[in-house]
Amino acid sequence: MKFKKKILCIGAGYVGGPSMAMIAYKCPDCRITIVDTNPDRIDAWNSPELPVYEPGLDKIVKKRRGKNLFFTKDIENQIKENDIIFVSVNTPTKTYGAGADMAADLQYWEKTARQILKHSRSSKIVIEKSTLPVKTALAMEKILASAKGKIKFEVLSNPEFMAEGTAISDLENPDRVLIGSHETKSGLKARAELTGIYARWIPSEKIITSNIWSSELSKLVANAFLAQRVSSINSISALCEKTDADISEVAKAVGMDSRIGDKFLNAGIGFGGSCFKKDILNLVYLCSYYGLQEVAGYWKNVVKINEYQQERFIANILNSMFGTLAGKKICILGFAFKANTGDTRESPSIYISQKLLGEHAELIISDPKALKNAAIDLEGIKGNVKYIEDPYRAAAGCHALVVLTDWDLYQKLDFQKIYNSMVKPAFLFDGRNIIDHKKCFAIGFNVYPIGKPALSHFKN
Ligand code: NAD
Ligand code: UGA
Repeated sequence: MKFKKKILCIGAGYVGGPSMAMIAYKCPDCRITIVDTNPDRIDAWNSPELPVYEPGLDKIVKKRRGKNLFFTKDIENQIKENDIIFVSVNTPTKTYGAGADMAADLQYWEKTARQILKHSRSSKIVIEKSTLPVKTALAMEKILASAKGKIKFEVLSNPEFMAEGTAISDLENPDRVLIGSHETKSGLKARAELTGIYARWIPSEKIITSNIWSSELSKLVANAFLAQRVSSINSISALCEKTDADISEVAKAVGMDSRIGDKFLNAGIGFGGSCFKKDILNLVYLCSYYGLQEVAGYWKNVVKINEYQQERFIANILNSMFGTLAGKKICILGFAFKANTGDTRESPSIYISQKLLGEHAELIISDPKALKNAAIDLEGIKGNVKYIEDPYRAAAGCHALVVLTDWDLYQKLDFQKIYNSMVKPAFLFDGRNIIDHKKCFAIGFNVYPIGKPALSHFKN
């Protein structure tokens, strides 16, 4: 079959895989190829068990794989053969040298630019899908500008706004698609070409365009604003615990103001995931770099409150359980950084588990999708840890349940059955406020939510 467009994506991760699968699904006349330097990832994308768990992803990959969606290790030839190249490699926080622990590590990004330069034999549109510091396109352009002969590259910014766990619906029906380009003749032509792809399934009013720097910066700012809401509500949850106010009631009253809105106001154990922290730190670094210390300090506090919330939660467990966890069995319900994903990158569960193990608690960790990653995350950590998927078996014989991920299934558990199998007095720490606290208290649990009065059977 002759394809209308030949599209390559470099980076077969949580973004590259689902976002390209969606393009393949919506544009059967376009050929989409995804490459990665990690051969295991490519093998997994070609196998029955995909490397990423995402509701609905299996279905669309299996529908298009081998037809117009291909996963391959042959980066060199794919760069030669394709006209449009998305770059979706990882951009983690730098751990070394200047800007360590703040700036984005652009080594994978730059290597990709050099690969594109080395193997291209014709002009191409190169699209930033990774989240990058503002002005990164300039560096990419400088590298690509050294191409020989008539080969020209047009760099676009097209940041991805999907969230894990809802990636497929976010990609199918996004709030907006943002395309940044230079406002030159060739920039506008490339912009129109990419707009044409998204317009196959996304209404035109949702496809917005901007200059390339606004596009790069908007992505960082969107994540910073979302994370800021989580830190804002979490900061107020601390005040609620001191004043007998209830954070859910406060969030509802505040969120019903249409100017504020009701989303992202769930108090909990703090945000996790591979992006919020790294993107805010990147923003903080950029502000400092440009001499905007006050602005940098403002955003840094979003991360500080996130860390504070986890510390508070851990201290609450320790204090409520009479100041010692040594030898006590604690059942962790949920290790993924949020529901409906197996991803545990920067999950609050990692830090909380490490701290509880540091108190010599024994941990029984349960999660429907993230146990493999949990075992990798806690590898080498001293202490007694077991991994049991079935929450009933995991909780049996434990002193406390600690809910760390908002999986639906935890709301539906038979808590009477669980209570009967636990050591008494039994404790329930709900780090996500998803359990029916009153019901569990009536069963006999001592219940400790976030930002609400504790329900305890102990007399003062
Ligand atoms: P990821 O680590 O899951 O995937 C990145 C992939 O790129 C890896 O498989 C890695 O092996 C590959 N890679 C690195 N260098 C390469 C090279 N030179 N050639 C070929 N492959 C290479 O990361 P991710 O979660 O998919 O995130 C990718 C980017 O998208 C990041 O910038 C992130 O901030 C951004 N983003 C992520 C999400 C999300 O939900 N995870 C959402 C929006 C944006
Ligand atoms: C987030 C953004 O929502 C996406 O738009 C963005 O594309 C993506 O980051 C990215 O750039 O990587 P994601 O991290 O997958 O998506 O998931 P979110 O739903 O944003 O949740 C992030 C964290 O905040 C989770 O740990 C979640 O449990 C927590 N959270 C979220 C709360 O604690 N309370 C809330 O009310 C909402």
